[in-house]
Amino acid sequence: MSASILLQVNGKAHAFALPRETPLIYVLRNDLELNGPKFGCGLGECGACTVLLDGVAARSCVTTLGTAEGRAVTTLEGLGTPDKPHKVQAAFIAAQAAQCGYCLNGMIMTTVALLARNPAPSEEEARAALRYNLCRCGTHVEILRAVLAAAEGGTTP
Ligand code: FES
Repeated sequence: MSASILLQVNGKAHAFALPRETPLIYVLRNDLELNGPKFGCGLGECGACTVLLDGVAARSCVTTLGTAEGRAVTTLEGLGTPDKPHKVQAAFIAAQAAQCGYCLNGMIMTTVALLARNPAPSEEEARAALRYNLCRCGTHVEILRAVLAAAEGGTTP
């Protein structure tokens, strides 16, 4: 029997009797029904599963439950609400920066982490921050526009 592991997710405490090596994304999606993080590659390479760990972007497919213990986990659901979206979410909506939308969780979470450490990134800095988040539809132009609009505090690209 696994010892109980405590997680703080979107400001709420949860306890899990699961192996410490359980991938965080399984717990978020399967146990907490937080479906913002998407399962893409499962190898830490595509970015679809990105969450924030103590405000830093982390890939929840290769982050274990044990690693996340005692740290603040934030998912897409913890940023804003449909009525009151986070400024990055609002900017992505205004820029219509989705085609299939599968990568957007990672794009948005990575952007939130970027703006927390660099509130006014240049276009080059924004490109560099998102370079390991993959989008197979090719909406990079709209995504970049949304990132820069969010950095300016507005939602109009
Ligand atoms: Fe985690 Fe691709 S699903 S990086």
